Amino acid sequence: MTHHYTGLINRYRDRLPVSANTPVVSLNEGNTPLIELVNLPKKIKKDVRILAKFEGLNPTGSFKDRGMTMAVTKAIEAGARAIICASTGNTSAAAAAYAARAGIACFVLIPEGKIALGKLSQAMMHGSVVIQIRGNFDDGMRLVQEVARTLPLNIVNSINPYRLQGQKTIAFEIVEALGECPDYHVLPVGNAGNISAHWIGYSEAVGLKTESCPNLEVAAPYKTGGLATKRPIMVGYQASGAAPFLRGAMVDQPETVATAIRIGHPVSWKLAWAAKNESGGWFNECSDEEILRAQKLLADTEGIFCEPASAISIAGLLKDLERSVIGEGSMIVCTLTGHGLKDPDTAIAQSSKPFLVDATRTAIEAVIGENMPK
Ligand code: F0G
Repeated sequence: MTHHYTGLINRYRDRLPVSANTPVVSLNEGNTPLIELVNLPKKIKKDVRILAKFEGLNPTGSFKDRGMTMAVTKAIEAGARAIICASTGNTSAAAAAYAARAGIACFVLIPEGKIALGKLSQAMMHGSVVIQIRGNFDDGMRLVQEVARTLPLNIVNSINPYRLQGQKTIAFEIVEALGECPDYHVLPVGNAGNISAHWIGYSEAVGLKTESCPNLEVAAPYKTGGLATKRPIMVGYQASGAAPFLRGAMVDQPETVATAIRIGHPVSWKLAWAAKNESGGWFNECSDEEILRAQKLLADTEGIFCEPASAISIAGLLKDLERSVIGEGSMIVCTLTGHGLKDPDTAIAQSSKPFLVDATRTAIEAVIGENMPK
């Protein structure tokens, strides 16, 4: 028996729609750390436990790898030679990497000028065909579906039900780490696939059905239940400028500094409402300022660097703790969906500038003297 971890499909194959003959395409994704925030609760003077599931530590730096290992594995099993996606950046990075691994072609549609630098470099570096469109993510999502109707392309956005199947494994890992579900699970909501996938995973851990799970025929080999006894309350956070779930309707011109969730027409609209309603949860919104403040706060106080879209988990949680809808004594897990290195521009713009001095000992000592804790 080897203990070498080889990715989430091998780890959870009895809970995923794969067979012994399925050719697994993996980069050993999943198995990410669940990190207890030790300083933040003290700082905000709240008696709560907050655990961050740091998905930025996946192979391409975001949670998308969980869905992509499944989507590309099933595409290869079906004989596909090319995949396509629309993306605000992370999906394209993951698709490009897994397509490279599988030796198939990858086409990505991204909104011109609105994806973070790290993500763009990944899609380019892994050799995908990068198509910038003069439009936003929602335009890209529509176009991908249109072209895939006639061309032999396998869509790897989260309308592909295998994506959610891979992403649900995050809930299994959390339940295994805690021995039970948390009281609350908070996370960002953009295209709304991930909140739905979390809810599918938690539901299966407990052995309950959910309206969040599409295309149940792919779910044939599930063995459900036995991991936990109750499901968490799901709380989804959106950027105020891109908050269709708060408005109760699609948003045509979404805008936010958190470009990953700059989405106005989420494809998993119904599934996400089901997750919210079945769990007794809610949606809340945060301004760009609140998002950036939370990103910096987490980096400064806990040593965890996540991207702006991920920091909305913390920004929203701080709000909901402040207004006491999440009470003292609660255990909260928040998903930090992507690594801060994805978006160096935004990080640098909000941090203090480096010092520039002559290469002398006196100059260095002067800076240290000014900045040494008293
Ligand atoms: N956080 C990050 C870092 C993301 O990249 C995304 C989505 C989300 C949160 C929201 O997840 O869409 O399942 O509700 N990024 C997609 C992309 C849209 O193209 O990379 P969701």
